[in-house]
Amino acid sequence: MASDNNTKDQSLFTDSGRHLNIRRFGWLRRQLPAGWSITKFLLLTTCAVYFILFIQRSNHFLQHTGYPVQVAADRGTCCLPPDHSQDICGRTNCTSPCPQPKPLVFNERPTESNVDHNQNAFFIETSGSGLLTMRQACAVESLAFHNPNLTVNVLFVDVPINKSVFVLQQLKEKYNNIRLVSINLNEYLAGTVLEHWYHCTDWKIGSFQVNNLSNGLRLLTLQKYGGYYFDLDIISVRPVTFYHNFVAVQDATSLNNDVIHADLKNPFIETAIQDFVLNFKQVFSNYSTIWGHNGPILITRALRKWCNVTDIESMDYVPCRGFNVLPTTSFHPVHYGQMKTLFVQPWANETGARLAWLTDRVIGVHIWNKLSKNQPIYKNSTQDYIRLARTHCPSVFSAAPDVF
Ligand SMILES: *[C@@H]1O[C@H](CO)[C@@H](O)[C@H](O)[C@H]1NC(C)=O
Ligand SMILES: *[C@@H]1O[C@H](CO)[C@@H](O)[C@H](O)[C@H]1NC(C)=O
Ligand SMILES: *[C@@H]1O[C@H](CO)[C@@H](O)[C@H](O)[C@H]1NC(C)=O
Ligand SMILES: *[C@@H]1O[C@H](CO)[C@@H](O)[C@H](O)[C@H]1NC(C)=O
Ligand SMILES: *[C@@H]1O[C@H](CO)[C@@H](O)[C@H](O)[C@H]1NC(C)=O
Ligand SMILES: *[C@@H]1O[C@H](CO)[C@@H](O)[C@H](O)[C@H]1NC(C)=O
Ligand SMILES: *[C@@H]1O[C@H](CO)[C@@H](O)[C@H](O)[C@H]1NC(C)=O
Ligand SMILES: *[C@@H]1O[C@H](CO)[C@@H](O)[C@H](O)[C@H]1NC(C)=O
Repeated sequence: MASDNNTKDQSLFTDSGRHLNIRRFGWLRRQLPAGWSITKFLLLTTCAVYFILFIQRSNHFLQHTGYPVQVAADRGTCCLPPDHSQDICGRTNCTSPCPQPKPLVFNERPTESNVDHNQNAFFIETSGSGLLTMRQACAVESLAFHNPNLTVNVLFVDVPINKSVFVLQQLKEKYNNIRLVSINLNEYLAGTVLEHWYHCTDWKIGSFQVNNLSNGLRLLTLQKYGGYYFDLDIISVRPVTFYHNFVAVQDATSLNNDVIHADLKNPFIETAIQDFVLNFKQVFSNYSTIWGHNGPILITRALRKWCNVTDIESMDYVPCRGFNVLPTTSFHPVHYGQMKTLFVQPWANETGARLAWLTDRVIGVHIWNKLSKNQPIYKNSTQDYIRLARTHCPSVFSAAPDVF
């Protein structure tokens, strides 16, 4: 990817260079010191431009391949334009101006179009781990497997990607639509609605920090780039690209934020992210024990307001002004209360009855990793999980150890 672009830049450059008319540069010859020819001048300029392009591209390349990104300034404390007198938190003792953030690889995608192909999908690993577990890798593979036209980006937050991990190598090798990207949060948040929240509030103090960061980052990512967001514990079982601008119902009273699609600059996402920033602080004093206040509950309350309805059944395409709410079966065919059914070893006399819930209305299966991570998975078993993995993430399945 990075080297492709490099070649493209260079050929663009030489093309335009070839069309330069040297005779137009008489004025320039008169400005040059004695002994300088136009050719020498142009040659030096060319070298300088190449050098700058090279430096830019190598930063880009470093970022893409997951080596640590060099951070020029802590954006929490550098001085914001235009007056350079305050940092993002309004403190007046800052000294150096904030540099421009670097563009990321998915800025290059044609996200403004509404078509089924060439779209981005995102997974975000926020826990600070530079690798994927087998179960996470299975989720990533299943999405890439069923949606060859999606670019499946796995974002690793503030950590280099551990490229010695076999399953990551497998994914890169088998799928040309999987992209592993290490992002620097400081840069990623620059100039966004989350920047102030991130640098200037005490969001890290409460419990579930990783979770709260993840809740905010998914909204921000869709706001910035548009596309699909998936939690790392959803096994896709059929293509998702037919569906646009949606979240999915979890049960009678709630929606989830585990799968979201939004076109670039979708107004509902703008509303939701504003809600995230505005209402986050209340969690400390009032909702401190309510799980999901900044996540599933946020989506539910924001959509209730957006659609101007009170109950979930009324959240429909028309009142929701083009936003969709997919039924429970779409991504939550197994309720989290029944999570264990995915992992039990069925009796030999019962195997035929398994996976009855896997109808053709299921797009993906939420595995509820937070609840299920300690349930062992036996590769040679007939657990529901294994039957899903064998079919929908074949290369991770074959790389997996006996128990995972
Ligand atoms: C700016 O002031 C704050 C306290 O208001 C202090 O914590 C911080 O270290 C100062 N920063 C610099 C760069 O002096
Ligand atoms: C993938 O995109 C190509 C065109 O780019 C299109 O012909 C094809 O139908 C798409 N496949 C799916 C599954 O959407
Ligand atoms: C990468 O992961 C492997 C285990 O899969 C571990 O042994 C190794 O230390 C990790 N490397 C880095 C740089 O974290
Ligand atoms: C907690 O929230 C409720 C309803 O939102 C409100 O009536 C109550 O005053 C709040 N309590 C505190 C201590 O903020
Ligand atoms: C983070 O989120 C959880 C669950 O949504 C919540 O209980 C917790 O209080 C939140 N932490 C902060 C600092 O808001
Ligand atoms: C919301 O719905 C109520 C009736 O249920 C209606 O009176 C009100 O005007 C609606 N608000 C908007 C902004 O459409
Ligand atoms: C399968 O066998 C087990 C133990 O032998 C028994 O408890 C269970 O009821 C049987 N299930 C069916 C559907 O026959
Ligand atoms: C499955 O593997 C486990 C250990 O990994 C072994 O104990 C068990 O006998 C195997 N079962 C079958 C049916 O092969």
